[in-house]
Amino acid sequence: MSDSLGGWKRSQYCGHLTKNDVGREVTLMGWVLRRRDHGGLIFIDLRDREGLAQIVFDPAKNADAHQKAEAIRNEFVVAVRGEVIPRPEGTVNPNMKTGEVEVLVSDCKILNRSKALPFTLDDYVDVAENIRLKYRYLDLRRPVLQQNMILRSKVAQVTRQYLTENGFLEIETPFLTKSTPEGARDFLVPSRINQGTFYALPQSPQIFKQILMISGFDRYFQVVRCFRDEDLRADRQPEFTQIDCEMSFIDREDIITVMEGLIARIFKEAKGIDVQLPMPRMTYAEAIRRYGVDNPDVRFGLELVELTDLVKGAGFKVFADVASSGGIIKGLNAKGCARFSRKEIDDLTDFARIYGAKGLAYVKIEKGEWHSPIAKFFTSEEISEMNKAFGAEEGDLLLFVADKSKVVNDSLGKLRNHLANILGLVDKETFKFVWITDFPLLEWDEEEKRWAAVHHPFTAPMDEDVDKVEADTGSCRAKAYDLVLNGNEIGGGSIRIHQQHVQALMFRMLGLSDDEARSKFGFLLDALECGTPPHGGIAFGMDRLVMLLTGSDSIRDVIAFPKTQKGACLMSDAPSPVDQKQLRELALKVTVKP
Ligand code: AMO
Ligand code: AMP
Repeated sequence: MSDSLGGWKRSQYCGHLTKNDVGREVTLMGWVLRRRDHGGLIFIDLRDREGLAQIVFDPAKNADAHQKAEAIRNEFVVAVRGEVIPRPEGTVNPNMKTGEVEVLVSDCKILNRSKALPFTLDDYVDVAENIRLKYRYLDLRRPVLQQNMILRSKVAQVTRQYLTENGFLEIETPFLTKSTPEGARDFLVPSRINQGTFYALPQSPQIFKQILMISGFDRYFQVVRCFRDEDLRADRQPEFTQIDCEMSFIDREDIITVMEGLIARIFKEAKGIDVQLPMPRMTYAEAIRRYGVDNPDVRFGLELVELTDLVKGAGFKVFADVASSGGIIKGLNAKGCARFSRKEIDDLTDFARIYGAKGLAYVKIEKGEWHSPIAKFFTSEEISEMNKAFGAEEGDLLLFVADKSKVVNDSLGKLRNHLANILGLVDKETFKFVWITDFPLLEWDEEEKRWAAVHHPFTAPMDEDVDKVEADTGSCRAKAYDLVLNGNEIGGGSIRIHQQHVQALMFRMLGLSDDEARSKFGFLLDALECGTPPHGGIAFGMDRLVMLLTGSDSIRDVIAFPKTQKGACLMSDAPSPVDQKQLRELALKVTVKP
């Protein structure tokens, strides 16, 4: 029986050829990246997932194969047989893994043809992302994306191996679930059998993994898809993958130790990088004070400077008013940036405004003096105190924001990253981890006019703070921790509430009546009363982790079939309208035109 391969068997991957193969007969199969016709000789770069091999068709040696090669076009699927030979002197390509050898063809089969493609599959050719996403099957053939997916597979495999070795059980939890608020909006799935009701796709398996602890599984993990209907950015997707873990009879230190081991193992096996353990830690309060954000990039300095006490009594009304109304004033010393033009400073100001700043006061240190529209409002003592606080030197640019603390920290924290990029302060080759601990338990949501959980509603308050959850809510800290890598939150978790009355209190704090709490979380409240072990856990964002490991700019480059910023799959055209019949079965009526 003849098959599509004509009885041929592939002997190895193109990308695996080395000079040790010289003299061997090989059979390779792959895609034609390009064909070069050198009058007599025809060269083909044949590609498979492991790399490229150079194939040579010599009319003097094999006229028949050479003739077939003339018909070959880019992205044809081809099988070749031939001998591996060393490349002639002077044609060795040191930039290519297989660059010392080539295959001299004795026979060749065209397994399938390809029409002309909308773009060439060269990693160095810039193609608009919407085109890449529309033709994702082609985009995924590019070596960069193939390497990303291979590394991603490695990360998943090492994760399973490490966690299994450490006694974790891989247990699946449902995708058709009940809505559990974790900050984002749920994706809903209408039920046909119970018309008028909806499942929610899980934002994370949070409650299920806690229930698994209550059931006695002790250590759980899952490499699991999570769904959140939130506004998308470069590091967010509506469906993304977590490495989700939960442990019983442990404290924060146990979790951090096991998880540092996981991350170190991933870095070692996926990238050959030794991560120094233990990883540094910082409290949330310190992160906000020094960096303005809870995901500080600690690869560079450029720390925020607290100035409120120094300037509250000074003559600059903007600062004095902010200080007297409970706001703060902080600054950044952009070293050596006094040379910035008016336009460049205006751009920084516009940047700070995105995060709510009303202005960005600035001072240039030139010829030992303050040059600034606001210099006249300060005494020489105040100026010298501020210089000291900033560590100001000749040529520096001092930047100030005065506002509510959230606005000041947000805008200066983001400006700090922005400036570091402009100034080239970020060492892209290093990986710097930091655990952020002692998060606030609850924060006031101005829009909803209620308290909201900073991590999620199941996170335990610090033992010292349990008694003040009601009386002094804002200052109550949580047993929560995030792992931050190069300014990206790659994981977050907490010790959970394991006492029913504390969980009930938490729901009340979030503005749920007892009835609402029962209807949403009755099963959890009941389970908590049936022998719940102290437990806690964490989830890592696997896409973000792989994005950083591969040096990609976007998580879309480490997800095989990602969505656009608008939540669309450009290849399959989801989301899309559905048939009237489907809607009728679900008893749904669509009131807008898509
Ligand atoms: P959290 O909401 O912090 O915690 O999520 C854990 C990690 O998941 C990643 N992540 C995302 N990645 C891509 N796209 C998104 N839209 C997205 N949202 C989150 C982040 C984040 O650190 N159940 C808890 C974990 C726990 O407490 O154990 C949870 O989901 O890297
Ligand atoms: P004004 O007095 O409004 O002309 O502002 C003088 C300088 O202070 C300008 O450079 C403004 O950008 C800056 N400025 C105004 N409001 C703030 C603020 N809330 N924080 C920091 N700088 C501000």
